Amino acid sequence: MNVVILISGRGSNMQAIVNAKIAGADIKAVISNRPDAAGLKWAKEQGLTVDSLNHQDFPDRASFDQALMKKIDVYRPDLVVLAGFMRILTPEFCHHYEGRMMNIHPSLLPSFPGLHTHEQAIAAGCKIAGCTVHFVTEELDHGPIISQAAVPILPYDTAEDVANRVLRCEHQIYPQAVADFVSGSLQLIQGQSINMRKHAQGQEQLLN
Ligand code: GRF
Repeated sequence: MNVVILISGRGSNMQAIVNAKIAGADIKAVISNRPDAAGLKWAKEQGLTVDSLNHQDFPDRASFDQALMKKIDVYRPDLVVLAGFMRILTPEFCHHYEGRMMNIHPSLLPSFPGLHTHEQAIAAGCKIAGCTVHFVTEELDHGPIISQAAVPILPYDTAEDVANRVLRCEHQIYPQAVADFVSGSLQLIQGQSINMRKHAQGQEQLLN
């Protein structure tokens, strides 16, 4: 399956996915909206095709998304992976990749969409934080949930402590979600994320 990964920054989730060497996943390109994204340099060093499209060169969101779609579609993607891609997407973009685009968000959605999730979780007194992989719909940080992982929030944790703990989980569940999609066990069916691998293993035994 052809996979295109979109990043904006350091790209540690992208690295986890690349390093997982997922059978059947042909990573066609890593594309960033920030030409100076650290993750691009790493991807290039791995011999991957890298590209960038600076959103600041476009007058509005719609024209950027159109141009990005054109760039992505050159690679005929079966799956588009948003890995720390810090852009709000137009409905057109979301519909175009419906059922074949996933995102990771560092909270247990539907709690705390958007930015500063860890600060919000700490301020709310939550004892658990986590991350969510989901299919992308036009509503920001929403969409059918593919998988989640949870970690404790400990006394005196800073947002950075929680972010680091959650990030380790992100690096586990995101490659697994990509692998499940590529193997065909994960699909979006009638608006629901269905994973036959988990079904077969017995969902009650699994945390993610
Ligand atoms: C991750 O925490 C991800 O969940 C969020 O942005 C961060 C990106 O980190 N959307 P990286 O670029 O993958 O290292």
